Amino acid sequence: MCGIVGYVGRADGVIGGNGTGHQALDVVLEGLRRLEYRGYDSAGVAVVTAGRIESRKKSGKLTNLLAELSENPLPDALTGIGHTRWATHGGPTDSNAHPHLADGGRLALIHNGIIENFAELKTELVSAGHTFISDTDTEVAAALLGNIYRSLSEEGDLDVALPRAMQLACQRLEGAFTLLAVHADQPGVVVAARRNSPLVVGLGDGENFLGSDVSGFIDYTRRAVELGQDQIVTITPDTVDITDFHGAPAEGKEYHVDWDAAAAKKDGYPSFMEKEIHDQPDAVAQTLLGRSDLEGRLTLDEIRIDPEELKEVNKIIVLACGTSAYAGQVAKYAIEHWCRIPTEVELSHEFRYRDPIVDANTLIVSLSQSGETMDTLMAVRYAREQGAKTVAICNTNGSTIPRESDAVLYTHAGPEIAVASTKAFLAQITAAYLLGLYLAQLRGNKFQGEIKDILADLAKTPDKIQQILDNSGQIKDLARSMSESRSVLFLGRHVGFPVAMEGALKLKELAYIHAEGFAAGELKHGPIALIEEGQPVFVVVPSPRGRNSLHAKVVSNIQEVRARGAKTIVIAEEGDEAVRAYAEHVFYIPETPPLLAPLLATVPLQIFACELATAKGYDVDQPRNLAKSVTVE
Ligand code: M6R
Repeated sequence: MCGIVGYVGRADGVIGGNGTGHQALDVVLEGLRRLEYRGYDSAGVAVVTAGRIESRKKSGKLTNLLAELSENPLPDALTGIGHTRWATHGGPTDSNAHPHLADGGRLALIHNGIIENFAELKTELVSAGHTFISDTDTEVAAALLGNIYRSLSEEGDLDVALPRAMQLACQRLEGAFTLLAVHADQPGVVVAARRNSPLVVGLGDGENFLGSDVSGFIDYTRRAVELGQDQIVTITPDTVDITDFHGAPAEGKEYHVDWDAAAAKKDGYPSFMEKEIHDQPDAVAQTLLGRSDLEGRLTLDEIRIDPEELKEVNKIIVLACGTSAYAGQVAKYAIEHWCRIPTEVELSHEFRYRDPIVDANTLIVSLSQSGETMDTLMAVRYAREQGAKTVAICNTNGSTIPRESDAVLYTHAGPEIAVASTKAFLAQITAAYLLGLYLAQLRGNKFQGEIKDILADLAKTPDKIQQILDNSGQIKDLARSMSESRSVLFLGRHVGFPVAMEGALKLKELAYIHAEGFAAGELKHGPIALIEEGQPVFVVVPSPRGRNSLHAKVVSNIQEVRARGAKTIVIAEEGDEAVRAYAEHVFYIPETPPLLAPLLATVPLQIFACELATAKGYDVDQPRNLAKSVTVE
């Protein structure tokens, strides 16, 4: 939520080592372009130049700010900050946009998160004579920082006044925040702070960067530094100083960003969403890569939890939100089946408020694309406090949830930029399956040969996804023909049930159409009352092969809704001719073992939602009201 960028460069013309140097505004705007997926209610920038701060900000998407900048250009500068907002306190207006100015316009502040004690601080500042022009908690933080800075700078050393003021301000702030500040007195300095909200440093040559995540500076450097909780970082062109909120020196952990900047571009697709749907064969293949040997033995080196302790695990709780939670629901079927360990899936934001039963033999598996989802982070922290072991399945290197977990299994889907998740979902299921198989291997629940066979089937999945992508014309035609639909239902059973819910979520998020996913067996217990003439119903049909197939039961469910007038759209396995008689449209997916079917059946539903939303003229990369990374509770 909210994208943040900061930049300082050197004025001697050797910036970046290429002799060309960077304009702060160029770096900041490029970073904001890449971070806009985090929020797009408004955008703003501030630069420090010639002993003053200049700022521009505009409600709406970044393009509005760009238009403002071409009408009212900013001067050249080597220090700048920028912000793209997902509104929390105060609506998406120009005046609520960041940066917020303080200290008579000489200090600019941007913020991600929520200052929980802002009301109390505001009352105090108003009593001291401060007037506010926005409805935001950020302006309160700016005023507090400005006041502290002013008194410190009157007392003494200007060079340390801004970091010191940030320390003192942070000691007074409650809640979650990343703050970035610049001051006109200190043209080559950006000071930042983080508590429970993301911030990474990018290391350059004669220049340094700050970003909510590495995409904020990926065009300029691959060297990044993770910051810990409650830390303050001061960057100049040549230095990066980290302290805690009381000024004690601290260290960050440097790492190499292995994302290719090109991977965060559209590659000729009209949207990131379409590109990311097409990235899925690769996302699954990369997530499988290097994690087993030729004998099919899983070698998950990243799981640095004592195998003996993992053998003692008697309960697994999967924690996640949104699409990641649906991936967790899919994984539950496989993990319980393969490992015989009771597995619960809980929405992270519900977890710690129900006094859950968690102990040292509980394994918490968190699923998060961003690794920054606050609800999931808080749930993981709570579980650790109760003594549980925690494994994060995450797509974002160096993010907070993996850092605060005992172990991490990274999905290698590459950057997911579109706000609605697609390739991360498939990669999460793949990684969770690897974890399930690893536990089964460790605990002897499966013979090595069985694990090898499942891995071989998983390895065939990328090609099968590609086949679906190559034959997507029919589902796209249907999507365009259904752009006037007001409600669409999705049914599935077993692993098809979370797939149905994910199909419904994609349609809600992208096309703003009412959609619900149901367990097909639940239909007769109530939801069938929704069926009327012409109601579109997608049905995810399991394979007819195998002893315990639910195929016949799901076909009965199709007949039940059809008899009441529903327009049935069926996702079925190739060769399943039985469904034709009951379906207005059938989309076939390649044969695969039932537990792996979600990796295929989800794809037509993603394509359907994306195409329908596009036909309605909506921005599929940045759906209204959403943000990619939900860093507030
Ligand atoms: O980054 P995370 O995986 O933790 O995000 C969880 C959800 O916020 C996310 O999946 C959300 O539901 C997306 N909008 C789904 O498309």
